[in-house]
Amino acid sequence: MNSMIAIVAAYLIGSVSFAVVVSRLFGLSDPRTYGSKNPGATNVLRTGNKAAAALTLLGDGFKGWLAVWLAQTFQNQYDLSDSVVAMVGLAAFIGHLWPVFFKFEGGKGVATALGVLIGLNVWLGLGTFVTWLVVAYAFRYSSLAALIASLFAPFYYGLLFGARVELLAVVIMSALLIYRHRQNIANLMAGKESRIGSKAKKPA
Ligand code: G3P
Repeated sequence: MNSMIAIVAAYLIGSVSFAVVVSRLFGLSDPRTYGSKNPGATNVLRTGNKAAAALTLLGDGFKGWLAVWLAQTFQNQYDLSDSVVAMVGLAAFIGHLWPVFFKFEGGKGVATALGVLIGLNVWLGLGTFVTWLVVAYAFRYSSLAALIASLFAPFYYGLLFGARVELLAVVIMSALLIYRHRQNIANLMAGKESRIGSKAKKPA
């Protein structure tokens, strides 16, 4: 019962779409109406508002971290297994992808996945983030950086902890993240993907 409550609570935390909330606070258009139409930091950046993009990134990352941190903090008190903690992280990520508060129209999960990974293990999160940074710096594609980082994350987990059952949560997260980037993959292959820093055609 405690596990169910933790997982549902994590899903609800993940369902808060910071791209939409922050955009409303800054008086920007709904990110689901311009650019890639994705409620995420990369798309908010296409308005040219760096502060709003940074806050979106921090908020979406924070909620992933928070869900895992809460589960870890109360792990002994409520008898939650390590697998449940990993599932809590996955639930927060799924909340971001299919948020109950926003008609199940969520984002692609990059910042939230990063927050979850940092929550599970700082080195895991850091390694994945550095991978994202290196690819983003080299190629200037946020999506490509996310795709490659998501491929590396399960390997980093395996290196740190071995093939534990919690690894499955990280693999599922990476698989869902790649699935949500299918339009980006098509754009990348067609040479049509927009680079970091380029603005949306209709600025918000
Ligand atoms: O954070 C999502 C990023 O990887 C791609 O975003 O807006 O270019 O589809 P976007």
